[in-house]
Amino acid sequence: MFTVSKEMNFLSEQECLVVGLYDKPVKFEGALAQLDGYFNGHLTELVKSGDISAKNQGISKVHTFGLIGAKRLIFVGLGKETAATFNGVREAFGKAFKEIHKMKWTQTAVYLDSFTGEEIDALDAAHALSEALALSTYEFKGYKQKSNEPEKRIEEVTVLSEPGDEEDIKSALTVGFVYGTGTNSARTLVNLPGNMLTSTDMAEYAKSLAEKYDFELEILEKEDMLKLGMGALLAVNQGSAQPPKMIVLKYQGREEWKDVIGLVGKGITFDTGGYSIKTKDGIVGMKTDMGGAASVLGAMEVIGELRPEQNVVAVIPSTDNMISGSAFKPDDVITSMSGKTIEVLNTDAEGRLVLADAVTYAKHHGANYLVDVATLTGGVITALGTEITGALTNNETWYEQVLEASYEAGEPVWLLPLIEKDKERVRKSKIADLNNSPGREGHAIMGGAFIGEFAEDTPWVHLDIAGTATTSKDTDLGPSGATGVMVRTLALLVERFEA
Ligand code: BES
Ligand code: ZN
Ligand code: ZN
Repeated sequence: MFTVSKEMNFLSEQECLVVGLYDKPVKFEGALAQLDGYFNGHLTELVKSGDISAKNQGISKVHTFGLIGAKRLIFVGLGKETAATFNGVREAFGKAFKEIHKMKWTQTAVYLDSFTGEEIDALDAAHALSEALALSTYEFKGYKQKSNEPEKRIEEVTVLSEPGDEEDIKSALTVGFVYGTGTNSARTLVNLPGNMLTSTDMAEYAKSLAEKYDFELEILEKEDMLKLGMGALLAVNQGSAQPPKMIVLKYQGREEWKDVIGLVGKGITFDTGGYSIKTKDGIVGMKTDMGGAASVLGAMEVIGELRPEQNVVAVIPSTDNMISGSAFKPDDVITSMSGKTIEVLNTDAEGRLVLADAVTYAKHHGANYLVDVATLTGGVITALGTEITGALTNNETWYEQVLEASYEAGEPVWLLPLIEKDKERVRKSKIADLNNSPGREGHAIMGGAFIGEFAEDTPWVHLDIAGTATTSKDTDLGPSGATGVMVRTLALLVERFEA
C-alpha cells in the first residue's frame, strides 16, 4: 500500500499528487520550488490570486496538463506553521483522501515534506497520513442490494520524502495505519444492527482476534457465571433469548503477569431499557450500546499488531437488555460477583450492572489499573455534548495517563467530579448495599460512581462515550455513524503506560 521514495521525481505517472501548504507566508522552497518550476512559476501566481489556498483545511485542485507526471495536484491548506498540530495535519490529510476517494482514484503520491513544519516532523506526518487514510475512507457496507459499479479504493500511496530514514517513515506509516484500521473495526462492530451482532457473535469476533494475535481467550457461559455469582450480568440477561457472554482476552507483553491494565467495555448489543422501557424515539440507535466493547476490541487489535511490552486484560460483559416474563424488574434485589447487593430502581441503568461484574472479574484476573468504557448515560450528552467524552476517576495519577493519551489521540476527555456526598447517593437503599439509579441529578456522575464502588481501591478511570461513540455528521475523518472513539486513546495508553 505504501511506497516511500527519496526521489523527488514529480514526473512519474500518478493520478494525483497531494501537497501541503503552510500559510503566512506560503513558502515555495526546495522541492516545492522545483515543482513550481515545472509550471513556470504559475503555482506561485495561483497562490497569490487565491486560486490555491493555504488557509487551514482549504482544498484546491489543479490540473497539471501533462506538465508533471501526476494528472492533478491537490493542495491542502495547513494554516500557520506555528499553530499546526498533529491532529490538524491528520484532519487535513483526511480531507485530501476523502476527496481522492470520492474521485475514485486508486493511486496517489503525497509530498510528505510539505506537511512537516516546526511542530510536525516527518514521522508525525507519516503517522497522520496513514491514520487519516484509513479513517477518512471508511465505509460501512450495509445491506443494500449490490450495485454493479465496481468498488474503487485507494490502493497505492507513494510517499515522497527527501530527508529522514526510509525505514523509519515506513514504520510510522504502518503504525498509523494500524491505529486507523483498529478504529475502523470498532466502527463496524458498532454499526452492525443488534440482530447481526449478538453476544455470541461478539464472542466469536473476540475469538478470531485471539487466534490472529495469539491472545489468551476465555468466554464465560451462563453456567460459569452462575458458579462465579455474577448476579448483575445475569439479571440484565434474564429477559433475553440470547445467552450472556463474559469475554476475556489476555495479552502478556512482559515476562511477569504484573502491572496489568484492565480494559473493560460495556457490551450491550441492544438496550430496550427493559421494564423501565425507553420511548419509541429513545430506543432507536440502541444497537450502539456496545460501543465500549467495540473500543476495547479495536484497541486489542492495535495491541495485537504492535505488541507493546505491557500486560493487558480485556473484559467485556455482553448481553442485550430485553423484556419478557423472565426479565428482571424494578424493585428486584440482585447480588453481584463482589458480594455487594444492588436494589434495581431502573432496569434501563443496566450498563453499570454488567460493568460491576466485569470490573470485579478484571480484578480477579489481576488487573491493577482499570479503565472502563461505556455508552453509559444520556446525562453525559446533556453535560458535555457530543464531542467530549466524560470521565470519572478514583486516582488522579492514573487519570493523567489517560488524559495524555486522549490528547495525543485527538479524542477529548473531560473529568467530572466524584465527591463523597455523591457516592453516598449510590449507597442509599433500605434493603441493599447499593441502588442502581439515584435519580436524575448528576446522571453521568451517578453512573460512574456506581462502577467505582466495584473498582474500590484499584486505580480506575471511567469513560462515558454515550455522546461520542456515534456522530450524526460526516467529518473529514469518517462518515456519520460509529466513530470508533477511544480505540486510539486506549491503545496509546497501553503503549505509553508507566506503572
Ligand atoms: N444505553 C443507555 C445510555 C445511552 C443514551 C447511550 C443515549 C447512548 C445514547 C443507558 O443504558 C441508559 O439507558 N441510561 C439511562 C440511565 C438512567 C436510567 C439512570 C439514561 O442515561 O437515561
Ligand atoms: Zn439503559
Ligand atoms: Zn445501555
